[in-house]
Amino acid sequence: MPYSTLFGDHFYCEADGRLECEHVFLDGNGLPGRWAAGKQFRIGELGFGTGLNACETWRQWKLTRPETGHLHFVSFERYPMQAADISRAISRWPEIADERQALVANWPRTPAGLIAIDLDTQTRLTVVCGDALESVLGIQSPFDAWFLDGFAPSKNADMWSAELMQAVFDKTARDGSFATYAAAGYVRRNLIAAGFNVERRQGFAGKREMLCGIRA
Ligand SMILES: C[S@@+](CC[C@H](N)C(=O)[O-])C[C@H]1O[C@@H](n2cnc3c(N)ncnc32)[C@H](O)[C@@H]1O
Repeated sequence: MPYSTLFGDHFYCEADGRLECEHVFLDGNGLPGRWAAGKQFRIGELGFGTGLNACETWRQWKLTRPETGHLHFVSFERYPMQAADISRAISRWPEIADERQALVANWPRTPAGLIAIDLDTQTRLTVVCGDALESVLGIQSPFDAWFLDGFAPSKNADMWSAELMQAVFDKTARDGSFATYAAAGYVRRNLIAAGFNVERRQGFAGKREMLCGIRA
């Protein structure tokens, strides 16, 4: 289990981070269903971490994407990991072995600035290194879906602040969505205040709640 000593938290849930990604971030954003339109689809993620969500999303995208679709997965990360640490952190899932190997093979030796990787002809990954708020404010095109995946709100308040949730809302396309494993009251209030229609759903692996919502 990769663990951040800086934040005092795990990078993904102890039960099964890959299945958590499916339940929280993919289902919570209506994916893969919304990909069927066959257009350009943009996902924004707060916290690239080990790249687990990116690899699992790419895997499911490859299985379900229409021929005309293009996915741009843009992730915001202040403390990018080294390739060897990424590989070690997600090697426990044979299901994403191909995706992990491709990610690690293309990952820069000194990750910084803007990391752009064409994963395949229909999939692009961009990791924007730096503070999430500053980076999201600087992004031009809006996102169709957001994965809000900072560390626990009690340990990583910057990733759930009113300012950042407002920036996320402002960079969400009409009818775009967000999903998060978090259910803390202040996170929910910040998302509502930003303008999202917020829904509570059953959390993953015994967690009582998670949040998802739409920019109507
Ligand atoms: C729970 S982990 C993300 C897990 C990740 N989605 C995965 O698939 O492994 C949270 C991430 O947020 C990053 N982070 C924390 N504070 C941040 C900030 N202010 N700006 C950008 N990233 C931040 C951490 O470095 C960490 O990688």
